[in-house]
Amino acid sequence: MNVAMIDDRILDANQIERPYLDRGLYFGDGVYEVLRSYNGKIFALEDHLARFKDSLAGVEIGGIDIDRIRSRILKAFDAAKIPNAKIYFHITRGSAPRDHNPDLKIKPNFFLTISEIGDYSKSKINGYKVSTYPDLRWKMCRIKSLNLLPNVLARMDAAKKGCDEAILVDEEGFITEGASSAFFACFGGNIQTAPTSANILPSITRKYISKAARNLGISFVEKSITVEQAKRADEIFLGVTTKDVIPVARFDDAAISDTVPGSITAKLISEFEKFTR
Ligand code: PDD
Repeated sequence: MNVAMIDDRILDANQIERPYLDRGLYFGDGVYEVLRSYNGKIFALEDHLARFKDSLAGVEIGGIDIDRIRSRILKAFDAAKIPNAKIYFHITRGSAPRDHNPDLKIKPNFFLTISEIGDYSKSKINGYKVSTYPDLRWKMCRIKSLNLLPNVLARMDAAKKGCDEAILVDEEGFITEGASSAFFACFGGNIQTAPTSANILPSITRKYISKAARNLGISFVEKSITVEQAKRADEIFLGVTTKDVIPVARFDDAAISDTVPGSITAKLISEFEKFTR
């Protein structure tokens, strides 16, 4: 008999349940999305679905009907009845005995959770503390894959330093993005962020921040930022679905901005809020 062991329990390997054989668990072989609702309205659903479709194509998981994913999200959101909800979902390539080369006949697994987004108003007033960490990730971070170990290690390092987020720095000393957020700095009245590339997630919040900047007549410059430049920035803020625009008060050992949020960040927060009504 082929044997499996789950904690102290010995089982017939042929009897183990599908979740234990999920390729997401063995290989991080899957892709995910995080979206949210504001006051009962899901924000940017189609943007997230379009990115999810790109992620699926990027890892060659085929045969997924995006309309069906949309219906599942709406059905679960309806059932949850949480006005300010975080919606997480992923698809893995499927469940099968461990083999790097997948059996292409296996059925992908879908998983979704909906939870309440707590009160984060304090982070908008006090700002985040962030610390830098080497960007140890693979070269296709535009794909929102389940391979998040470097992001996890970065966040653990930030937490040890009393920080709220880790800012990833590539081998040339340029900031790519946060461990789970997009990164922006303001210089001389302009907003600056790294250009989108294979190594950066095309953040949905970034798209709306750029739109807000356009509405406000603030230039949005897509040019990489070094750590030294960031320390001297007039303002720094992060963009992430769950909290949209978050001011940064401290970057490594440098205090950022005289006021938190800085004036551009404050304008962006109110402009962004208009999109969510
Ligand atoms: N993370 N960059 C990375 C590496 C991210 O993980 C995220 C979001 C972002 C911001 O993307 P968006 O604006 O589309 O949320 C940028 C999600 C929330 C997460 O992994 O939980």
